[in-house]
Amino acid sequence: MTDTPTDRLVTIFGGSGFVGRHAVRALAQRGWRIRVAVRRPDLAYHLQPLGRVGQIHAVQANLRYSDSVMRSAQDSDAIVNLVGVLHESGAQTFDAVQAAGAEAVARAAAEAGAKLVHISAIGADAKSESAYARTKAAGEKAVTGSVPDAIILRPSIVFGPEDDFFNRFAAMARVLPALPLIGGGYTLFQPVFVGDVANAIAAAVEGRAKPRTVYELGGPEVKTFRELMELMLREIGRKRILLPIPFPVAKLQAAILELLPKSLLTRDQVELLKTDSVVSKKAEREDRTLKGLGISPTALEAVLPSYLWRFRKSGQFTRPVA
Ligand SMILES: NC(=O)c1ccc[n+]([C@@H]2O[C@H](COP(=O)([O-])OP(=O)(O)OC[C@H]3O[C@@H](n4cnc5c(N)ncnc54)[C@H](OP(=O)(O)O)[C@@H]3O)[C@@H](O)[C@H]2O)c1
Repeated sequence: MTDTPTDRLVTIFGGSGFVGRHAVRALAQRGWRIRVAVRRPDLAYHLQPLGRVGQIHAVQANLRYSDSVMRSAQDSDAIVNLVGVLHESGAQTFDAVQAAGAEAVARAAAEAGAKLVHISAIGADAKSESAYARTKAAGEKAVTGSVPDAIILRPSIVFGPEDDFFNRFAAMARVLPALPLIGGGYTLFQPVFVGDVANAIAAAVEGRAKPRTVYELGGPEVKTFRELMELMLREIGRKRILLPIPFPVAKLQAAILELLPKSLLTRDQVELLKTDSVVSKKAEREDRTLKGLGISPTALEAVLPSYLWRFRKSGQFTRPVA
């Protein structure tokens, strides 16, 4: 790791998001100049303290407008694409963002002659019933079509202080007597720490990953959805009923919840939950994993207490010592 100034420029699309801010920090610590390409640069000021003065700057780009993507990619030595959506809204369709948008970034990377690191997801599958998974697969295909040497990173569910998974269910547990176990809660996950994903991105940007390779990123443990809920509830010191909901019922509920302005659950997410999100045996055999990038995966138990303490009952507030 170096802290010395460098001429190397990395452009990070989606750098303002959850994984993005950790990727920005990891690359800033390694001395890269960072251009964060975001839809609203005025909302990306929070990233500047992650680097030295002038090391990180934001430019405007929307993956739905290829000109803005092309402009943002100019002169980059490396490009990271972290843009994704978990549910559609208005013009932000899966297809526009995760398939056509990924293609726009890949074309811009090819034009700039930049190394490309593309973030997909375990479960990307052209034949999936889930449009999220299908468009992740279409995005991967478009990426390798334009930049054959691109490195693709597919994380399982990502956890960390600002995650949308444990924080969301912990917030629900604070107010609801029961939490839903969609499909019975049997879906398997291999949660991966956001800091490890950020280090994997940095390793790929810095040439420590094999080109033309799809890496699958998972943590040290595989757990069912039910086990993850039990772990979260232990961590926040609350007892809640865990209520199994069959997939067809969850789909009906999602059809209604989808109509709310802030989508709590969509039918596509229910479809996604029918498939396990774990690192494949093939990826393990071929070392296309965190370990293959020289990163030893961080355990859930080592990190969850550092941010779930906020959801404990008042009187149980014992903020862990860092
Ligand atoms: N978090 C997970 O558990 C997880 C698991 C597997 C894979 N992944 C993948 O990892 C990547 C990062 O995930 P995340 O959790 O960091 O997501 P996130 O917090 O929602 O961040 C997504 C980023 O994409 C940007 N974005 C959305 N639409 C855009 C558009 N049209 N043009 C330009 N930028 C746009 C967002 O910026 P604005 O909306 O502010 O413009 C934000 O910076 C995604 O591709 C996701 O699919 C995440």
